[in-house]
Amino acid sequence: MTDIPPLFTPFTLRGATFRNRIVLAPMCQYQAEDGTPTDWHVAHHGRYATSGVGGAITEATGISAEGRISPGCTGIYTDAHVAAWRPVTQLYHRQNIPILMQIGHAGPKSSTMRPWDGSGPLHETGPEPAWQTYGPSAVPAREGWHVPKALDEAEIAGIVSDFATAAKRALAAGFDGVEIHGAHGYLLHSFMSPVMNQRDDGYGGTLAGRMRLPIEVAKAVRAAVPDTTPVLYRASCVDGEGGALTLDDTVALAAELKRVGVDLLDASGGGIPSGMRLAQMKPKPGFQVPYAERIRHETGLPTMAVGMITEAEQANSIIAEGRADLVSLAREMLRRPSWPYLAAIELGHPEPASILPKLYSFYLKIAA
Ligand SMILES: Cc1cc2nc3c(=O)[nH]c(=O)nc-3n(C[C@H](O)[C@H](O)[C@H](O)COP(=O)(O)O)c2cc1C
Repeated sequence: MTDIPPLFTPFTLRGATFRNRIVLAPMCQYQAEDGTPTDWHVAHHGRYATSGVGGAITEATGISAEGRISPGCTGIYTDAHVAAWRPVTQLYHRQNIPILMQIGHAGPKSSTMRPWDGSGPLHETGPEPAWQTYGPSAVPAREGWHVPKALDEAEIAGIVSDFATAAKRALAAGFDGVEIHGAHGYLLHSFMSPVMNQRDDGYGGTLAGRMRLPIEVAKAVRAAVPDTTPVLYRASCVDGEGGALTLDDTVALAAELKRVGVDLLDASGGGIPSGMRLAQMKPKPGFQVPYAERIRHETGLPTMAVGMITEAEQANSIIAEGRADLVSLAREMLRRPSWPYLAAIELGHPEPASILPKLYSFYLKIAA
């Protein structure tokens, strides 16, 4: 009997067991209406709930209307949103796959157009008018973008509480856990980055000051959900080109996150000062894996690696060599939604079809 490849071994975070190490990465769809997911989201997630992934994470979902990236982004700030997400969570539960919601506030990068309209800031007078944006300081995310209002302490407390409420609503919608979005130049990353955070109060200046909001959010979210619920944190481990946040800063953040009960760091990167431009990411396979590896080894916090992981052997060796606990794929899952099954065959899994839903598995075994 051939051994199960490391990529196909289970992994447990609190009450959620991923039956393998492959996770669908968060991907904005820009197809929501007033924050409410639509049939598009059910179709999109249907491709992955039947793909053999070990777990999945939704797109960045706003903790408030103004925290959405664009008018097409999903939200979790009303009870109607809770009801509309249920068909998505049910899809995954039919296959016993944990589905986590990525909850976020886009901060200085909110109020923007959909990518196919250019991703730039919305206009005041457009058909979908711009809204007030917020950030650590009155520094635009890019030249010519909205100048965010620097949050005062009462507004910061409101954001912390919105994250906690969003986490509770996510669980009410059936999600098995949440991922706090602390990456890509959005609000929490903008507090971490010395480029965007020019405050001189307790929420800026030193690394401890810059980390304060992310840690307060992590604590509030942890306190809002049961002990059995995994809480993940996605960080931009470094800013983009020309940025100032260092990997040392993020190692320190990860250690603190672990201390306040975060269960895994999803190691992404970039977004400051440039926009989240996939084309600008260094086109090198696994370019962000070293972040996941260093954080895992130095803090003992489990990590997820992401970024140009496209090949079965590559993904398997990341797990086998202990560089990360999970791998996450975005664009390759758009190209090849059957990636987990194809990877299982390629890696010599003794029963590749067993990772699929029962009916597929039954017929594919006959065909083999
Ligand atoms: C269409 C699309 C939408 C994305 N939306 C999000 C998002 O909502 N939240 C997030 O953290 N990352 C988002 N990302 C980034 C991915 O999760 C991932 O980190 C990045 O694409 C690198 O992985 P890949 O090389 O496998 O595509 C998005 C990527 C794509 C392609």
